[in-house]
Amino acid sequence: MTKEKDKAKDKNKTPTLLAHRGRAGSSDFGAVNPPVYHASTILFDSYEDIINNRGAFTYGRRGTPTTKALEDVISSLENADGTLLVPSGLAACTLTLLALCKQGDHVLVPDNAYESTRSFSQKVLPDFGIEAEIYDPTIKDISPLIRDNTALIFLESPGSQTFEVMDLQMIIKIAQENNILTAMDNTWASPLFCKPLDMDIDVSVQSATKYVSGHADCLLGYVSAHQNVYNRLKRMYGLLGLCVGPDDVALTLRGVRTLDVRLKRHQESALKIARWLEQQEQVLRVHHPALESHPQHHLWKRDFTGSGGLFAIELNPCREAQIAAMLDDMSLFGIGYSWGGYESLMIPVILLRELGPARGPLLRLHIGLEDVEDLLEDLSEGFKRFDKART
Ligand SMILES: Cc1ncc(COP(=O)(O)O)c(C=O)c1O
Repeated sequence: MTKEKDKAKDKNKTPTLLAHRGRAGSSDFGAVNPPVYHASTILFDSYEDIINNRGAFTYGRRGTPTTKALEDVISSLENADGTLLVPSGLAACTLTLLALCKQGDHVLVPDNAYESTRSFSQKVLPDFGIEAEIYDPTIKDISPLIRDNTALIFLESPGSQTFEVMDLQMIIKIAQENNILTAMDNTWASPLFCKPLDMDIDVSVQSATKYVSGHADCLLGYVSAHQNVYNRLKRMYGLLGLCVGPDDVALTLRGVRTLDVRLKRHQESALKIARWLEQQEQVLRVHHPALESHPQHHLWKRDFTGSGGLFAIELNPCREAQIAAMLDDMSLFGIGYSWGGYESLMIPVILLRELGPARGPLLRLHIGLEDVEDLLEDLSEGFKRFDKART
């Protein structure tokens, strides 16, 4: 595929980009999909070539046509100059923190960040002389927290357990006024429903393990950025020796083709179920940013173009045995970490937070691609077991 042809395709809308970017080249015997290259060593044609590091690909860890194909799709989705694929979403978060902060720096990390991102910031960054400060994701004005040595504001919105939506525009503006970089874990919305770089956020961080690959069968993360920041990320990426196995790249490339159709279905079913849950007497509150009842619904409406399948419910006070009775016998909802796959999941949320209000028992639901009436029936039966276990 020529660069000119790829450029022309950038004008297409998202579903077309998803179907046409990162496809096999004309030398791939007409195959629609790019081959899965299992390559560490890549041979050079001559002494001249190896001395000058000449060749489209030079060593497996530095990229293959397979990784390049996925990077191309993602960069076009994210409107980025470059994308780096890493072995997990967590690696995308930690790469960003390590690449953009140095000894003596101060970094702001939201209290509702993915737990391991938060732990890395608090437990590992100090060993490198970097101070991580936890901030309230619902903060109205972040300026009082800015210091002379603040290098980065990490964002995650909505949080993936309690679903607070940040005032991204306020934070971006203040960061820009103070020459501070911003990076956002955008896994909840995926690049379909929020495009961090278009909002002037410097790094879009994603656990592609979730919606982007979408089938609960591989682990992968990525960071996308414009050229200057991309160069900084790439330097650290190369020095840390990060790379991704070709089969996980191929699974993600296969999954991303249907991101648009899947996300719309996740969105529709999750909203229907969230509204139904709001009516159930066992439920105190539904934490879903697209519901009018969500405290930051206006911010979600302003900055996001859709919502996926992930949200939480806060139960009225109950016994642990009631939750167990409900979860243990669900016929369609599985009990398992992660989300973004085609299957529905339900887990108890144990919060390890410093700030924010104390909350009642929380359950996180991921609404998969099953028939929505079947899912409602499963939940309804679950609440009957929940009620029965009351005493
Ligand atoms: C919001 C968010 N970011 C990052 C991660 C980490 O992703 P991975 O499991 O691919 O490392 C997760 C995982 O659950 C997540 O929910």
